[in-house]
Amino acid sequence: MTDQPASTANQMWGGRFAAGPDAIMEAINASIGFDQRLHAQDIQGSRAHAAMLAAQGIISTNDADAIREGLLTVLSEIEAGGFPFSTALEDIHMNVESRLKEIIGEPAGRLHTARSRNDQVATDFRLWVRDQCDATIDGLQALIRAALSQAEQGADWVMPGFTHLQTAQPVTWGHHMMAYVEMFGRDLSRMRDARKRMNESPLGAAALAGTGFPIDRHATAQALGFDRPMANSLDAVSDRDFALEFLSSAAICAVHLSRLAEELVIWSSAQFRFVTMSDRFSTGSSIMPQKKNPDAAELIRAKIGRILGAAVALFVVMKGLPLAYSKDMQEDKEQVFDAADNLMLALAAMTGMLSDLTANRDRLEAAAGSGFSTATDLADWLVREAGLPFRDAHHVTGTLVAMAEKDGIDLPELTLDQMQSVNPDITADVFTVLGVHNSVASRTSYGGTAPSQVRAQIARWNDIIASEEWA
Ligand code: ARG
Repeated sequence: MTDQPASTANQMWGGRFAAGPDAIMEAINASIGFDQRLHAQDIQGSRAHAAMLAAQGIISTNDADAIREGLLTVLSEIEAGGFPFSTALEDIHMNVESRLKEIIGEPAGRLHTARSRNDQVATDFRLWVRDQCDATIDGLQALIRAALSQAEQGADWVMPGFTHLQTAQPVTWGHHMMAYVEMFGRDLSRMRDARKRMNESPLGAAALAGTGFPIDRHATAQALGFDRPMANSLDAVSDRDFALEFLSSAAICAVHLSRLAEELVIWSSAQFRFVTMSDRFSTGSSIMPQKKNPDAAELIRAKIGRILGAAVALFVVMKGLPLAYSKDMQEDKEQVFDAADNLMLALAAMTGMLSDLTANRDRLEAAAGSGFSTATDLADWLVREAGLPFRDAHHVTGTLVAMAEKDGIDLPELTLDQMQSVNPDITADVFTVLGVHNSVASRTSYGGTAPSQVRAQIARWNDIIASEEWA
């Protein structure tokens, strides 16, 4: 980055200025420090624009050819690294155009015909966010596959299900994993949905009002892979819904990642030992030799902070902005860049962690039966077999739980005599429902934890993955 002295007026827009900007003005105004990340999209947009200008007879074919070749040279210079980006030239748009002028001379000055940086930046940024949606979709698909194979492996492995993080009822490992598949599946559909809605071209809206030149906005929209041009030029330059939708969807996804990360942190602790994380996704302690820490999970758990922070920041920037463009909107990019980078990293880390993860079947099963997890099964048995109203059955079971708790035993260890002392209608048949395998096998309602239901959920997702809409 070169920091030219600000004594001369800006070469791109300084016609009416006698003096250059104050150094502080330049520092607050410039976006090149971060928007250079849009260089490929900027050049792609300019190429589409120049080709359209020539096709419409607004510039000559010779000039358009020179512009195209020159832009390709600028692109390769930037991609080679070490490009001398200039703060005095403010942003990526003027840095590219200025270098183009050095390379091809006068025709470079014709590129900006019928265009403004307002529609230019809106176009570049849309293209960038659209690419990020695609990358996020790929990342989510890999994660869904990893969760699905965990579910397939342990479709009928029993484990405790929790509410309030207290033992509730036995569930299966497969069922728990499929819950996350559902969540990430919704994230995937939100990203697809956002991508579809953002896929309209702002290019040709010019500064705000459109242009008198006979441009073809449909042609540039098509060349850039947009479905159509945006219908209102004021909206086209002032809309950042696409960034807000991306950030909102990213934030919801980050919440899901954070919840799973939290479970992995708990489950990998010495007290739980439900799972063993691979060495590849764990770290050691510099002082405690025995430690194997779930740092990746903890960092994934924390990513929601910055991702939601980015969403909040852009919502606040956008609220109350009058139409059309205001420079406030330059503050959109860093938020989205940071959120996108961190979401991609979190998705990749979670996918790696989940693929490498060993669920400890024996520990899960041992824990599944503790904490009176089949108390509801007992109450349901009393309703079904002894004809008790559910409320009464609940009370009888509660008394039996208290009895077992006092003796320091689990429900199946109570004797039939003890049970009949609380309700004489209980028979030995009750013991069949107190086992955790019978408990989960009985929950066959649609979406329930019975292995038959879990396998149906898995089959449904395998169908989705095999379908055309997935690709
Ligand atoms: N760097 C600016 C941005 O990111 C580009 C648009 C500037 N437009 C303007 N009228 N000053 O928003």
